[in-house]
Amino acid sequence: MNPTGHAPTVAWADDAIEIVDQTKLPDALEILRLASVDAAVDAIRRLAVRGAPAIGGCGALAMVIGLDEARPSSTEQARAALDALVARIGAARPTAVNLSWAVRRVRDAAAREATPHAVRERALLEAQRIIDEDREACRLIGEYGRTELRGATTILTHCNAGRLATLGWGTALGVVYAKAAAGEPVRVFACEARPLLQGARLTTWELMEAGIDVTLVVDSAAASLLHSGTVDAVVVGADRIAANGDTANKVGTFSLALAARHAGVPFYVAAPASTFDPATPAGDAIVIEQRAADEVRGWQGRRTAPAGVAAWNPAFDVTPHEMITGFITEVGVIHPPFTALARP
Ligand code: MRU
Repeated sequence: MNPTGHAPTVAWADDAIEIVDQTKLPDALEILRLASVDAAVDAIRRLAVRGAPAIGGCGALAMVIGLDEARPSSTEQARAALDALVARIGAARPTAVNLSWAVRRVRDAAAREATPHAVRERALLEAQRIIDEDREACRLIGEYGRTELRGATTILTHCNAGRLATLGWGTALGVVYAKAAAGEPVRVFACEARPLLQGARLTTWELMEAGIDVTLVVDSAAASLLHSGTVDAVVVGADRIAANGDTANKVGTFSLALAARHAGVPFYVAAPASTFDPATPAGDAIVIEQRAADEVRGWQGRRTAPAGVAAWNPAFDVTPHEMITGFITEVGVIHPPFTALARP
């Protein structure tokens, strides 16, 4: 159980991965079993499991399944299999650095072992450590965020950076849960996050489950909501934070930052160390995942725009570091200047 008392979003069970199938929410809470690397990669690609830390955890466990599928008979074969798996699983989604970070971490730890059996055991141990560390990171992010945002009761968030997106109780929503757990008043406005509606489908669902006051707004209402003076702070998650602090997150985050700046509302990014990417100097070097035009042209197989209309569908955007009030991390809150951010 995670700190919110719910079944974990990603778990290891009987040599396979079990995930909450996020394509089915909010209508049904279904557990999907992923028993092959192909199934895990497919689940990551179609967002059955999503959110940067959650896909990192799923990818890490998929490395173990990949070793089981490869059945290496020597340590050299096991290491070659690990390298191939890093490339295959790590490419499932390009923007969230947590995925490539997690599979490389499993590979680097397991490749040091001396027998195929030990490689497999170490891969599983490392994947489980990644999951445990993220759970604890979420808890600490919540606590540091609660301290930083004392006095802020109304939070605007985007997409889903909650327990469904992580291996604990969330990053942006971790701050909300920490406030609620401490008995402090807290209320959330959740943007829909078109086109896949992670805010409308997931954030509202998990906050309602937790008994937290949540109000859904369409993405295009956020600027006027911020301008109205109702919101005390914007808190979002992140998929990759470049060395200079430029931050990739769900498309629409940059618009929120601009509107928050205009309204004088603080804009925070809550993220664990695994989301910081010191190897990427600035936001223009972050690969932004482009997704199918059909996600914009319709919803669940029903067309809502003229057939064949061109659609631009970046899954993420990059908020320039100068728009960010601070990063809420598991080691504390980082304030500007964000010069050469290392993994905190
Ligand atoms: O496309 P998604 O749903 O995986 O995008 C998720 C986000 O943008 C989250 O804000 C981010 O991964 C942080 S999750 C703690």
